[in-house]
Amino acid sequence: MIQVGILGAGSMGSGIAQVAAQAGHQVVLFDTQTEALDLAQKKLAKIMARLIEKGRVNEAEANEIQERISYANAMEAFADCGIVIEAIVENLEIKKFVFSSLEEICGANTILATNTSSLSVAAIAASCKNAERVIGIHFFNPAPLMPLVEIIPAIQTTDANTLLARELINSWKKVTVIAKDTPGFIVNRVARPFYGEALRIYEEGIADFATIDWAITALGGFKMGPFTLMDFIGNDINYTVTETVFAAFYFDPRYKPAFTQKRHAEAGWLGRKSGRGYYSYSEDIEQPQPNKDHALGEDILWRILVMLINEAADALYFNIASKRDIDLAMTKGVNYPKGLLAWADEKGIDNCVKAMDLLHKTYLEDRYRCSPLLRKMAAENSTFY
Ligand SMILES: NC(=O)c1ccc[n+]([C@@H]2O[C@H](COP(=O)([O-])OP(=O)(O)OC[C@H]3O[C@@H](n4cnc5c(N)ncnc54)[C@H](O)[C@@H]3O)[C@@H](O)[C@H]2O)c1
Repeated sequence: MIQVGILGAGSMGSGIAQVAAQAGHQVVLFDTQTEALDLAQKKLAKIMARLIEKGRVNEAEANEIQERISYANAMEAFADCGIVIEAIVENLEIKKFVFSSLEEICGANTILATNTSSLSVAAIAASCKNAERVIGIHFFNPAPLMPLVEIIPAIQTTDANTLLARELINSWKKVTVIAKDTPGFIVNRVARPFYGEALRIYEEGIADFATIDWAITALGGFKMGPFTLMDFIGNDINYTVTETVFAAFYFDPRYKPAFTQKRHAEAGWLGRKSGRGYYSYSEDIEQPQPNKDHALGEDILWRILVMLINEAADALYFNIASKRDIDLAMTKGVNYPKGLLAWADEKGIDNCVKAMDLLHKTYLEDRYRCSPLLRKMAAENSTFY
């Protein structure tokens, strides 16, 4: 079994180290901050104690998992690793510097992977002489609990290295999907309307946060409504992802951020972590009640859902991933109750086109343009599955 190196011991790096150690690998975890390493070690001990309590592992197994991770104070400790997964600060210049240093330390065949959420894998790979062994391996937070991992080959990556990376992550009992090296990969691109269209509906004064969340959960079967979820993720983080994707798509209006979220982030109303976001999280506050008007709820749900379907269809149209992987990514990565393309079939492709065209006619905004794929399928009377 290859030795696994993890660079960066923050929320993601420490979680990925745990996953690799649980899969039986010897893991080397390195961070420039010794406090981050101490914290990661303490956090893992706590998690293991909880897993013992729940009966998921016994004490001996928990000790073995912890002993498999060594905490390094220099990158040279990666010398014998078969793969190194980088999970440091989201900054292209720093990542490029780190990858070119890694190449000097690691063997010629070591796979060098980045957990970046928003940077170009090709740009990171370009910092290496042997760019063909660089790849994106994108875990979701928290890595030990979220089943999905997006594998993102750069245009420089060889198929053989992509296969190796995918097989390795599959052996860690994760669900892998292959995504093209484009902004937001699959999940962070296709999920944009879940937040964006909900915010737009609110800004138009059609419904308040609680009503939109109710429509999405009670009528749509989603586990969390968009405002509850944004409060959970943090409005600062979610806003930044939206802004980054918007800029990366050359300001395509489909991904335009909302002032409502920007103001919430600026006000420090970040969500659960700050005690207040779209909702208040202090104990004595009564939560706002939704307006359970069924027709209104169905309209809200359909508008958000059809925008999600349109985004998923467009991702397929532009070959970002296969239809199986697009549906899998949304069900396993963000817990959607159904794959969006399967949902499109169920709703009727023609109905999706009509709904998009009605939105477009109403607003005359490019944001509501229908995916050419949906239009073609409706004309041919075909379905995704
Ligand atoms: N947090 C998420 O939800 C999430 C999800 C998927 C991917 N990501 C991506 O994962 C990466 C890490 O995110 P995070 O949330 O774990 O960040 P974090 O801030 O929790 O941790 C980053 C760690 O990297 C360390 N670090 C910084 N520069 C370093 C260097 N040159 N060498 C070694 N260590 C260094 C820091 O000390 C810190 O401990 C980012 O690229 C991010 O975009 C984050």
